[in-house]
Amino acid sequence: MKNLEKEISEKGFISLNEKEKNLNLVNEIIKLKKEKNAVILAHYYVDGAIQDIADFVGDSLALSQKAAVTDADIIVFAGVHFMAETAKILSPDKKVVLPDLNAGCSLADSCPEKDFEEFIKAHPDHTVISYVNTSAGVKALTDIVCTSSNAVKIVESVPEEKNIIFGPDRNLGNYISRLTGRKMTIWDGACHVHNEFSIEGILEQKKQNPEAEIIAHPECPKQIITISEFVGSTSALINHTKKSKTKTFIVATEPGVIHEMKKFSPDKFFIPAPGEDAECACSECEFMKLNSIEKLYTCLKYEKPEIIIDEEIRKKAYKPIKRMLDLS
Ligand code: 13P
Ligand code: SF4
Repeated sequence: MKNLEKEISEKGFISLNEKEKNLNLVNEIIKLKKEKNAVILAHYYVDGAIQDIADFVGDSLALSQKAAVTDADIIVFAGVHFMAETAKILSPDKKVVLPDLNAGCSLADSCPEKDFEEFIKAHPDHTVISYVNTSAGVKALTDIVCTSSNAVKIVESVPEEKNIIFGPDRNLGNYISRLTGRKMTIWDGACHVHNEFSIEGILEQKKQNPEAEIIAHPECPKQIITISEFVGSTSALINHTKKSKTKTFIVATEPGVIHEMKKFSPDKFFIPAPGEDAECACSECEFMKLNSIEKLYTCLKYEKPEIIIDEEIRKKAYKPIKRMLDLS
């Protein structure tokens, strides 16, 4: 019998043992889910095979809404750490497990709690709006959480005379500021995936496919937003490709979304926008891609790695998420 805690502390996840390597893991996951009354929630950025086995696939907002109302005993979160943490904050009585603890987020990491606390102190009397891509500690310092789906609504819910701190994504913050006309004090953070699309690469794709429409997530910088014909959150982008008469899209967001786009529109073409990185121009989020069927199986079977949050932090972090859900 292996020492699971030791393996988790050394590797961040539980690997398959020799016997488990011979199992049909998809069938086993389906069986275990039923036996344990577990639900698998997956973000659109994880591999298609995981999206296909999940009970619910969504963007950050939809996943938090689902986590708040599920009657499952166990939530298996096929996403990244802040998402699983948000699920635990909303559903403290449920066991929340994450297949690989290394599934972090460069955007959440760009906003350390202590530094954000100093930033807030330096700007007193501001309403603090934080993107959901933050740690529980940062949420505990926040007045209202938002996601890319509802950021405009959340910003507009703050009375005109109030100053706003918006964190941690400067690209989303600046985009929302342009849309709403609200001046905000914006934290200087970014997502390494959305911040690094190659404008030259996208324009070259457009030259090769002049009929294609460029669509982008608002976590992209202004120069990408400017050349895009449609800008929206993950679910807005998916809905747009469903409704649009356009046949070809250049997709400037994490390419995992193309799985859902293709499912609904098998006759349309989706070209993933290239990243700046000369070696890997694929623009995948390596954190999301740490989720695998193997790790999904082991975390469901052993109910580990589990997300545990200090109760005082959880209670403080709950309030701004609840405010967001009430406003959404
Ligand atoms: P949404 O799911 O809100 O579009 O956010 C995108 C993202 O980067 C999630 O990590
Ligand atoms: Fe974080 Fe960016 Fe990955 Fe989303 S795509 S989880 S914001 S690093």
